[in-house]
Amino acid sequence: MKEKLIEMLVCPSCSGAFIVEQVRYEHGDIKEGLLVCTSCNKSYKVLEFIPRFVDTDTYVDSFSFEWNKFYDVQMDILNDNDESERTFLWKTGWKPEDMQGKLVLDVGVGAGRFADVVSRWGGEVVGIDLSYAVHAAYKNIGRRDNVHIVQADIFNLPFRPETFDHMYSIGVLHHTPDTRKAFHAVVPLLKKGGEFAVFLYGHGHYHAFSDRWRRITTKLPITFLYYLSSIAVPLYYVHKIPFIGRAAQFLLPTANWPDRRWRWLDTFDWYAPKYQWKHTWPEVFQWYKDEGFGDIELYQLEKESSLSQVCMRGRKM
Ligand SMILES: C[S@@+](CC[C@H](N)C(=O)[O-])C[C@H]1O[C@@H](n2cnc3c(N)ncnc32)[C@H](O)[C@@H]1O
Repeated sequence: MKEKLIEMLVCPSCSGAFIVEQVRYEHGDIKEGLLVCTSCNKSYKVLEFIPRFVDTDTYVDSFSFEWNKFYDVQMDILNDNDESERTFLWKTGWKPEDMQGKLVLDVGVGAGRFADVVSRWGGEVVGIDLSYAVHAAYKNIGRRDNVHIVQADIFNLPFRPETFDHMYSIGVLHHTPDTRKAFHAVVPLLKKGGEFAVFLYGHGHYHAFSDRWRRITTKLPITFLYYLSSIAVPLYYVHKIPFIGRAAQFLLPTANWPDRRWRWLDTFDWYAPKYQWKHTWPEVFQWYKDEGFGDIELYQLEKESSLSQVCMRGRKM
């Protein structure tokens, strides 16, 4: 944790400022310490360079497992490609110049694939996550000067209102108990004039079958499901067979990325999370309006993806 993060943080219980005690530094960062609220005296640990505002990963344990197992798979810098950068471009509509010099909140940072992009584009990014994905994110990008990683819950974040210039949440809010409430919980943290981009699941063609499978898979032991999800690796070749492939994809949808670890990860990511809500773009558009946003734009992919995904961005008025 960088010292400059302390000024951005406030006590999630009473919004008091923090002082840090019992500090142990390593390579200039706070490796361990205690954030003590100067107002209510509550304290929160800094462990392994990460301030912790939650005690457990509760319902997101599958993400703790997933992002530490597959910490490197979607990181452009570790794979010498620009897959995540291109994805960030089309999911948010932002370009590098939009992030330059801005303070940006990544709501649900995972292993840090998009925070990596924002930081390389010259933004200062704070990535929060409820799960132990924060360990993977810290390992991947946490030592950069313009990156901060915090373990915290969307519903109780330790920041002052109107702290951030921009915010984004990619594939996260629908994995909380209530997507709409999660959306509502983060809006106050955005400055007026700032933009908020979200990516949410929509109602896709394949979901009828995968939703049925999920009734079983979400109850399986995580390690078992991890090995089971590797079925996506050979199924990729089955999906290429005319007619049979299409039928197989309908009956048992699995990820189809050319990279074998990526399709294993994405298949696990689909079948493991406890919550996985789906939304429509008019519904999400209304949320933006109700929260006082303007300049609302819908970013859509062509073909079937426009149904299975909602990418939207708005400006807080
Ligand atoms: C599918 S992952 C997406 C991660 C990242 N945005 C990405 O696209 O690679 C969803 C993330 O949301 C996080 N998450 C779910 N509920 C959360 C909550 N209440 N507070 C903070 N993070 C949460 C999970 O721990 C998980 O890392």
